Amino acid sequence: MNLFRLDGSFREEGSQSRAIADIVENQWTATGGGDVTRRHIGAEPIPSTYWAAAASFGYTPEEYRTELQHTAVALATELVDELVAADALLFAVPLYNFGVSQHFKAYIDLVLTEERMAPTAPGQILGGKPV
Ligand SMILES: Cc1cc2nc3c(=O)[nH]c(=O)nc-3n(C[C@H](O)[C@H](O)[C@H](O)COP(=O)(O)O)c2cc1C
Repeated sequence: MNLFRLDGSFREEGSQSRAIADIVENQWTATGGGDVTRRHIGAEPIPSTYWAAAASFGYTPEEYRTELQHTAVALATELVDELVAADALLFAVPLYNFGVSQHFKAYIDLVLTEERMAPTAPGQILGGKPV
């Protein structure tokens, strides 16, 4: 059993969202949950340029695709692989300025460019996972 944990706070120390997520993670571990895969989008933000690069990849003839597009698509694949591999998903995401943080928006936007996340993709790859 694998838990995917995403932290969105830019704070390493004193972070309330991390503290709450720690409670969930500790409970997961204490009840035999197993491995935890982590991604810290607050500490290691996803560049805001990646979404447009990945979103335009499919519309760009192969010979015109840029390094940025390839890098962004590769990261999108990695991000979705993490979600698919997990049995449960834990998102510790603060509110900043009346909404989710730019870090989390950049993450979600990039994830949604991935072909497995398309509404027309076969199956619901994240269906049934507790979040
Ligand atoms: C710049 C900034 C903007 C914030 N904006 C909001 C907000 O619009 N709404 C809200 O409920 N909390 C807001 N907060 C409060 C944070 O959600 C709260 O401090 C939270 O604990 C931050 O997560 P962390 O403790 O994991 O870093 C804001 C905090 C900061 C630093």
